[in-house]
Amino acid sequence: MKILENHSLASLNTFGVEQKARYFATAQNTQEFLALVRQYENPRILGGGSNILITRDLDGLVIKNEIKGISIIGEDDRYARIRVCGGENWHEFVKWAVAKGWGGIENLSLIPGTLGAAPIQNIGAYGVEIKDVLQVVEALDRTTGSIVHFQNAECRFGYRHSLFKEPAQRDRYFILSATLQLDKQPQVNTRYADVERKLHELKIEHPNIRDVHRAVIEIRQKKLPDPARLGNAGSFFKNPVLTEEQYRQLQSVKPDAPHYPFTHTFVKVPAGWLIDQAGWKGKQMGRVGCYEKQALVLVNLGGASGAEIWDFAQKVREDVQEKFGILLEPEINIW
Ligand code: EPU
Repeated sequence: MKILENHSLASLNTFGVEQKARYFATAQNTQEFLALVRQYENPRILGGGSNILITRDLDGLVIKNEIKGISIIGEDDRYARIRVCGGENWHEFVKWAVAKGWGGIENLSLIPGTLGAAPIQNIGAYGVEIKDVLQVVEALDRTTGSIVHFQNAECRFGYRHSLFKEPAQRDRYFILSATLQLDKQPQVNTRYADVERKLHELKIEHPNIRDVHRAVIEIRQKKLPDPARLGNAGSFFKNPVLTEEQYRQLQSVKPDAPHYPFTHTFVKVPAGWLIDQAGWKGKQMGRVGCYEKQALVLVNLGGASGAEIWDFAQKVREDVQEKFGILLEPEINIW
């Protein structure tokens, strides 16, 4: 295993920011992982680098999870259970499942990143979250060096949330694999307005999972910038969850504010809409911008540093708070 020093992370994060890691290594299997974790204090783990903003050079070791492997570990007439290693690319795995005709994750097509990162923020799109199909997470507990298994209910999944994201646990568990249960007689979920609209546009009346897969890919390609062309990490902020009282306050300023039910007493408001209404959509400051087709996405216009992007994000955040009294929380991880 090679340990590289002062290694540039520019090609390893989708924002494309040029920061360095003091030490850098890739792990191809659990043994390599263990060896690295024993040797260095507080290493950080990098998956596809598609949900982070690196704001400075990093002191310690950064390990890129490259543990690969997809295996079918159980199958009956209805379901297939698949164990997928953390270093596998998420979208490639979705394609694999769709090609087999196994449903459950087609709405999560084209989400960048790796399998290992997916449960951490409980990736979600178009009415589906990974928690809906995830059975077990296999992780390495860095504090003991042992391998632990978390059942779905133990992962404390919520909206873009899991146990693995909680401050007390952060960087404690390294996700080695996840076991997902996919449906061999899938029912498609096309309730999300954008998906319904796209299927209508494609003139598909009785969609199967391949159709949904295609529709989601087309929607995302149209709305979200391709990181290979324009550095970004998808949604920068989470959609804020408001109490009914907070929502009423927002309505006093913006009577037509969109909202979606979240629980009995809370509603979710699209952060992209708030940022858009605050006048940021398409705005640019120096080398950073707010994407013109989806205000929730901040973009590196070329050569921006992580600190510049973070500064821009703070400005957006302060402005939204001033105008609507709502504090946006980052959806991505800030390093
Ligand atoms: N909107 C605007 N202006 C904008 C953007 C959005 O007015 O510039 C309004 C529109 O009314 C739209 C509503 O906001 O109907 C919601 O927008 P959209 O359907 O694009 O979804 P989102 O809430 O902005 C979330 C996820 C996305 C996911 C989509 C689809 C979060 C933080 N983001 O975005 O996830 O793809 O729903 O399910 O929950 C990601 O996490 O990186 C991500 C891209």
